[in-house]
Amino acid sequence: MNDRTSESIVILTGAGISKESGLSTFRDADGLWARVRIEDVATPEAFARDPEAVLGFYNARRAKLAGGGIAPNAAHEALARLEADWPGPVLVVTQNIDDLHERAGSRNLIHMHGELLKIRCLACHEIIAWRDDITTATACPHCAETGGLRPHVVWFGEMPLQMEAIAAALDACGLFISIGTSGNVYPAAGFVQQVRGRAHTLELNLEPSEGATLFAESDYGPATGIVPRAVERILSEGW
Ligand code: APR
Repeated sequence: MNDRTSESIVILTGAGISKESGLSTFRDADGLWARVRIEDVATPEAFARDPEAVLGFYNARRAKLAGGGIAPNAAHEALARLEADWPGPVLVVTQNIDDLHERAGSRNLIHMHGELLKIRCLACHEIIAWRDDITTATACPHCAETGGLRPHVVWFGEMPLQMEAIAAALDACGLFISIGTSGNVYPAAGFVQQVRGRAHTLELNLEPSEGATLFAESDYGPATGIVPRAVERILSEGW
């Protein structure tokens, strides 16, 4: 292993990293999209058509996350350890809207699909930390307007957040790790193509993702086992 300690690491995470914390994934047999249709709860058109149904879908997920029974797991904690102990920059780009990376101690973090514990006001455009339900009757705590509050979550057909910062980090990294994502949703599913050939690429997942063949290295199993193991190896040997 040559000296890589000045190189940067970018880690993409998906719903699989939070599964063992008790949160559902989307496309597993018991996933969210096996229970509700994306078209009914996760598009701007759905929100325009039936705002209460969309707000109710996210209210239930927010209540579960904020309710106290959900905690970061060993995989989230291992990534926080990697950021703390790796000499070069470490960035977590998560597709997840939970707050488990933050609660595990990750600081350099981008939520490209937004955050469940924040809401956005369509009247004043403020983004507000929020742990309770919202309905069309809820008044914006910033401008007092009602009827314009939505989850600060990126729906299908909307642009993910901070894409320029993500692209710059991908262009600079020496190691790209993908954890707990099925590789079904772009642009996240395309990140590996952007870095392969220049950076080392590692997939850590329960099973091979749609993009599995694009990775130079992979390990499969539950995240709480394979992620801490990969982090210890990177810290002791690099890649
Ligand atoms: N450990 C590691 N990986 C796991 C585990 C686990 N315990 N359990 C499931 N997985 C894997 C599954 O094998 C699957 O490949 O996690 C992946 C989850 O895939 P999806 O359910 O498609 O979730 P994700 O890839 O995060 O979805 C991306 O799609 O619906 C949108 O906005 C939503 O951010 C989400 C995006």
